[in-house]
Amino acid sequence: MLLITCPYGLSGILNNELKKMNFSSLETFDTWTYVEKQLQDAYYLNLHSRIANKIYLRLNTPSICTNFDDLFDTTSEIDRSSYIGIWQWVSVKVHLRQSQIDSTKSSQSIIHKAIISKLTWSKDDHWNIDETKPSQQIYVIINKNICSIYINTSWSSLHERWYRHEAWEAPVKENLAAALVQIANWNFKDPLIDPCCGSWTICIEAAMIAKNIAPWLDRYFAFEDFPVYDKAIFEKMRSDAESNIYSKKYTIIWSDIDEAMIETAKKNAKNAWVADDIIFKYGDIHDHAKRDLSLSWSSVTVVSNPPYWLRLDQEDLEEIHSTFATSINKKTVVMTWYSWSKKIFNYNTWSTKKTKNGSEEVNIYVSK
Ligand SMILES: C[S@@+](CC[C@H](N)C(=O)[O-])C[C@H]1O[C@@H](n2cnc3c(N)ncnc32)[C@H](O)[C@@H]1O
Repeated sequence: MLLITCPYGLSGILNNELKKMNFSSLETFDTWTYVEKQLQDAYYLNLHSRIANKIYLRLNTPSICTNFDDLFDTTSEIDRSSYIGIWQWVSVKVHLRQSQIDSTKSSQSIIHKAIISKLTWSKDDHWNIDETKPSQQIYVIINKNICSIYINTSWSSLHERWYRHEAWEAPVKENLAAALVQIANWNFKDPLIDPCCGSWTICIEAAMIAKNIAPWLDRYFAFEDFPVYDKAIFEKMRSDAESNIYSKKYTIIWSDIDEAMIETAKKNAKNAWVADDIIFKYGDIHDHAKRDLSLSWSSVTVVSNPPYWLRLDQEDLEEIHSTFATSINKKTVVMTWYSWSKKIFNYNTWSTKKTKNGSEEVNIYVSK
């Protein structure tokens, strides 16, 4: 069983992505979904999912734990030697919900002790721990006294793509940017435009989707240090993904009033192998809208994350948001933190979705 986490409110988008990969979800919540799959499916999902944050593999059959003895015994029963090398550190995260066990800290140390006691076969082995290796992360959920034990197969969050070395102020997280492009349902034939592109995250993700570039061709995954890891299988998945990249060109137009980020953004696009798919236009959204968009207004897809911060005055923010809000005959997706946006995007013509960029609540408006 795999537990896949995602940005708040986007598990429906994650499920659509899973369906396209022939995985069907069993049960879905705001920030995660379950699929009845095994470790090698986690290799595939880590490599290909654009929306997931982390992918966890369940290590036990969920069982009742009402006290620390139960918790120690349940943890001791998992097959630790297949997933944790004797030379690895283990970190433990615990989530308790409506359960008799109510101390997170004590649960963490009991679980840690149970894992280490079994793994440390001899006194000498204990000192073999390699501090330069990342630790394996165990995640335990005790919900209404039912304990499920997972191991993180991803390591750090999958939103941290390898191409982004630097970002503009208030960048959108990469998996959120990919979700916005999925929500827009871009047909790849017409141009896709982000008129407030900042460090180009939305457009880079759009180009990677269009060219079928897997988001994770080049990074470390925690499962690569599992003793049961099958390198040959994973390397084959990686080389298949590389050979499935399309060389076709797409029209993606990026524009921003501020050129300060352009060199970094170009570098990011180059790292993501999409630099040649970009047309960058410097400019104010209002001029840009008149000049470039109005001619083919009905056939472009607009995906954007306009400014919201206080550096701009209220009038500017309203004007920028209104420009998006009045472009209703296009396929448009706008994600904004701007608190007055609800007044501007009329519910007759826009549907709304709530999500979070990190800890900040944001609205996604989708033209109906
Ligand atoms: C929230 S940021 C976008 C962040 C971007 N999605 C990223 O991931 O880096 C908003 C962007 O809108 C740009 N902007 C502000 N006023 C603008 C205007 N009138 N026309 C075009 N862009 C504008 C800012 O320079 C900033 O880069």
